[in-house]
Amino acid sequence: MLKIAVFVSGRGSNLKSLIEKIKSDLTTVELSAVISNKSDCPAINLAEENDIPYFFVNEISKEKFVTFSTLKDILNSKEVNLIVLAGFLKKIPEDFVDAFENKIINIHPALLPSFGGKGMYGMNVHKAVFESSAKVSGATVHFVNNFYDEGKIILQRCVDISDVENPAEIAERVLRIEHELLPDVVKLFSEDRVTVENNRVQIKFK
Ligand code: GAR
Repeated sequence: MLKIAVFVSGRGSNLKSLIEKIKSDLTTVELSAVISNKSDCPAINLAEENDIPYFFVNEISKEKFVTFSTLKDILNSKEVNLIVLAGFLKKIPEDFVDAFENKIINIHPALLPSFGGKGMYGMNVHKAVFESSAKVSGATVHFVNNFYDEGKIILQRCVDISDVENPAEIAERVLRIEHELLPDVVKLFSEDRVTVENNRVQIKFK
């Protein structure tokens, strides 16, 4: 059983697609916890509706507030083996990242290594892609290290944007891809098909 924790900050559409995929298809994946830096966001409502334990890492006044240090213990006690950042917009402390080396993945709404880095999240990314006149965009799932969007790339999928008229259209097309890509990557982990060899991420395709 692959036990995952999903970190969120807002809308939670990637969390939703993961929950649906786990229910319908990923029977060897358990969603053990949802972590948010915001207490009142749609993603937290989703966790509540689905009876998934949740914690907050930002709002000290809230009942479910935990520090990253406590969170580390909680996730270890739940035997979480994969942390999935799905629209989590807060920087994770270095010692937390180091404690879960090659066990934290992030979905980014563009084709890294372009259009990443500090401040490149959500619509900022799609605006930059639009302004560049790029003809393809896409989504990237990568390992998280201590530098924004610089961890090794695990899987990517692209989409034609040659005919779009605004950044919102890019966002819509990319999000559709994200909702398939992220569950696909979680599936690969659950089947033990992702390895890091010679400083390179390898996917064992059947
Ligand atoms: C997603 O598009 C995700 O790729 C992006 O935030 C959105 C969250 O949407 N993440 C980043 O930009 C990280 N750099 P969601 O809350 O509906 O899943």
